[in-house]
Parts: sequence; structure tokens; C-alpha cells
Amino acid sequence: MHNLKLSNSRTMPAVGLGLWKIENSVAADVVVEAARQGYRHFDCASDYGNEPEVGLGLRRIVADGICSRDELHVTSKLWNTCHRAGHVRLAVERSLRDLQLDYLDLYLVHFPIALEFVPFETRYPAGWLHDPDALQPAMKPIPVPLSETWQAMEELVTAGLVREIGVCNYGVSLLRDLLAYARIRPAMLQIEAHPYLVQSKLLRFCQEERIAVTAFSPLGAQSYFALNAARSEESILENEVIRQIATRHSRSPAQVVLRWGIQRGTAIVPKSTRPERLRENISLFDFELSDHEMQSINALDRHRRFNDPGDFCESAFHTFFPIYE
Ligand code: A2P
Repeated sequence: MHNLKLSNSRTMPAVGLGLWKIENSVAADVVVEAARQGYRHFDCASDYGNEPEVGLGLRRIVADGICSRDELHVTSKLWNTCHRAGHVRLAVERSLRDLQLDYLDLYLVHFPIALEFVPFETRYPAGWLHDPDALQPAMKPIPVPLSETWQAMEELVTAGLVREIGVCNYGVSLLRDLLAYARIRPAMLQIEAHPYLVQSKLLRFCQEERIAVTAFSPLGAQSYFALNAARSEESILENEVIRQIATRHSRSPAQVVLRWGIQRGTAIVPKSTRPERLRENISLFDFELSDHEMQSINALDRHRRFNDPGDFCESAFHTFFPIYE
């Protein structure tokens, strides 16, 4: 398994299991099965609503002797409702408790979006809507500077609760701003990236600034069909260029897309609940794409973002909330 270098000389396995949308009823078993197959990196978030079950799985991994805690790399993410300085520590402590850990390897700001706090006793995880039972449910944005949130994230490192901190869904301008005040630099940027959303300038910027990058939804549309957020012709796995490369290497289209992700230097966090796909998605280190193949995949870029608050907040949460425009 290849490792990715994080900012202060720690490393992280390049392939992680993405936990988004993994059902509570199977999450613990999937985590253990993934660990048996060699996964050591688990990409969690409070918002995924399954950290308690993931925690049961992590405990079993160590109890069954598959590996030790310090061989695991566990990421979690600060939800939008906990951006105020006073809520950041509460949020990480809850994730740590649910995951049955005493530290996180990486803690990320989930979105550059601050929403009104929802007490954990009222609802956890809070999700996007301030009050789902209201007559007209909507998001409730609040004006919290991202610098306030970051300073509270830095304190978590100082307190030993998290090893590294980073952000998700930031573009270059927000990163530049963050670097201007960060006492502890972001070790990681997590973004949507796949052959239909290549993001080469953002990646290049991060490389120059020594910020590691993780690609979420590395298989692109695959994650979004069930959410009605992608059309069937947007499947990267059906793309002719990908299929030809796959045939040439006797690999699946998914393996070609994932290998491209790793070979361009990003970590990837594909999600699957099926043992055979878990294996497929981590079996990426005994073949290599040629420069020409890498370039022909880069050329597939359609600038197609499937996970865009500017779209889904309005359709699902009755709130117009663009962030990338
Ligand atoms: P499943 O969990 O049934 O395997 P992403 O990681 O890009 O978010 O994509 C996750 C989606 O892709 C899930 O719907 C998952 O379904 C599916 N998937 C995961 N691995 C593969 C694979 N190797 N081939 C095809 N589909 C996959």
C-alpha cells in the first residue's frame, strides 16, 4: 500500500474506505472486512451518522489483532453546525466517543459553511436543516469567520485530540486566506475529484503549498445515481477511453479510475459495502498507467461537480446556498 506524505512528515495510506452512505446496520462489519483486506485508512464524518457503528468496527479490528490502533489512520470531520469556537471541541469529543478513540489522525472542516448550532440532545447529527419539523424547513446560515473555526481546530492539535487538521471543499482563494493566518498549516484538502472533475490547478496549488489532497467520490457519478444527482450517461465507468485502458491492463474500469487518482498523487476514499469491490478498489499497486494514458484520462475533464451545495441545498433543503461560484 502506498502512503501519502502529510505536511509534518506523517504519512497516510493512499486508499481509504469512504464511510459516507454506509448503512448503520452493516457499517461495523464493512469496516472489519475492509481491515482484513488491508485497509488501514477510514474516512469518517459526524454527518455520515454512522460513527458509533464504525467505532464498534474499529474496536473489533484491534481486539481481533488485525492491526493495532497506531497502524490505523482515522479521519473525521467537523460538521457545519459546530463552526463556532465554543462548539469545535464538543464536536470532536463526540466523534472521539462514538469512534471509541482517544485521538483522531486527521480532523477536517467538512464544508466552508457555518450553520446555527443544534444541541446534540436535540438532534445528532444535525444535518443541513435547522429544524426539519418546521412549517418551512430550511438551513440557517450564521456569520462565523472560517478563521475562528480554524483557530479552534488548532487548539485540538495542541490538546492532543487530533494529530493533523485540514479542510474540505475549499478552493484556492479560501486556502490562500487560510494560509495567511494558520499557525498550524492544513495538512489536507479533501475535494471531489474524478476524471470528469479533474481540478488540475487546485491540485497543482496544493502540491506547491505541500498540502496533501484526498479525492472524494473518486468514481464520480457512481455515488450519485441513487441520489438522483447524476444521469446514466455520466458514468465514468462506461467511458470508452477508460474501458479501452481497462481492457489493455486486464483491470476493471473502476480500477483504472482509482489508479489514475493515486498516480496523480491524491489519496482516494472509494466507498463500497461489497467484499469483492473492497478488494478490487485496493488492488491498485501492481499495475501502472503510462504517461499517455494518464493524459488521455486528464483530457476527459467535463468540470462536472456532482456534490455541489449550490444545487443540492436548494433542491433538498429549500435554501439557495452557492459556495463555488
Ligand atoms: P457499492 O457500495 O454497492 O459497491 P464513490 O466511492 O466514488 O463515492 O462511489 C461509491 C459508489 O460506487 C457506490 O455506489 C458503490 O456501490 C460503487 N462502487 C464502489 N466500488 C465500485 C467498483 N469497484 N465498481 C463499480 N462500482 C463501485
